[in-house]
Amino acid sequence: MSETVRLFGKAIPKTAALAPMASVADTAYRLLCMEQGACMCTGELISAKGLCYGSKGSRALCQITAAERPMGIQLFGSEPEYIAAATEIILEYKPDWIDLNMGCPVPKVVNQGAGAALMRTPELAEQIVQAAVSKAKGVPVGVKMRIGWDDNHRNAVSFAQRMEAAGADAICVHGRTRMQFYGGKADWSAIRAVKQAVAIPVIGNGDIVTGADAVQMYAETGCDLIMVGRATYGNPWVFAEIEAALAGEAYTPPDTPERLAGLLRHIRLILELSGKSETLAMREARKHALWYLKGRPGAAMFRAQCSNLQSYADAERLAAQYLEKYQTSESM
Ligand SMILES: Cc1cc2nc3c(=O)[nH]c(=O)nc-3n(C[C@H](O)[C@H](O)[C@H](O)COP(=O)(O)O)c2cc1C
Repeated sequence: MSETVRLFGKAIPKTAALAPMASVADTAYRLLCMEQGACMCTGELISAKGLCYGSKGSRALCQITAAERPMGIQLFGSEPEYIAAATEIILEYKPDWIDLNMGCPVPKVVNQGAGAALMRTPELAEQIVQAAVSKAKGVPVGVKMRIGWDDNHRNAVSFAQRMEAAGADAICVHGRTRMQFYGGKADWSAIRAVKQAVAIPVIGNGDIVTGADAVQMYAETGCDLIMVGRATYGNPWVFAEIEAALAGEAYTPPDTPERLAGLLRHIRLILELSGKSETLAMREARKHALWYLKGRPGAAMFRAQCSNLQSYADAERLAAQYLEKYQTSESM
């Protein structure tokens, strides 16, 4: 049994959490990652205003199934009144915590003063935390932030301290500025600085790709938990790899037949859970399919074929064809 950390009122295994990823980490994705050992997950960002105006799409994003727990629902917005009202709405879905997005870099979000733009308006960010806490009925509130707006405005430490004082129960730090978007390198020393400056738990995030990275992030930052995003693309098994590395155990990655079986299961889950027609669900599935054989022999051919997938039967056929062609390859 791995070590645990007290987070959001629960004892959470000190392994790795799945990061929130809009349009990627949906219910099917989260289930697969939790199965492979993610210790908790966060849903895709949801517009507080959209929820308040009754958006069906926003409501759909609030759904939590038992196997995804512990799971947080993440809100974004720049108006405390909408954050307060949206917090009341999401309580219906019984999130294990309420997550506040203060890290999203996309223009559509920052231009309304939300996401990472809040790091430039810490007073408003405080009001947003206070608004959520005031309506959360004791459900913990987390903040997911970056290390600042740009290199000249790296205010992660003071910002995190202010969020703590405003009532946040935990802070997740993605070690990039807003202007870096997802490029460059995450600065783990900034995560360490935040960890040393606040008393609430700190979750470190950014550029964890392997089990060795996970070990290193814990060692370098002293963070309470780590969170993994893009390294999970087509690779929910990264959580098993991380768990093994943290336990000092050997890890055997899945072979190609296992990866393809995992992909087919992922597609079945999308078909079952997305509420979309097969045509639309397969459009969603294609994106994931592209990722599953990255770096394997014949991956380019496989990727090219993925764009033609119209049905589950097509996916089964493609997997079988691939296996037949590459079964004998040494690097399987
Ligand atoms: C496609 C995509 C969607 C994302 N969506 C969200 C989101 O909805 N909420 C959020 O807080 N962060 C979001 N992020 C940021 C990730 O949660 C994470 O902070 C970032 O990818 C860095 O971690 P990584 O290097 O492990 O990927 C998203 C990232 C990606 C790549």
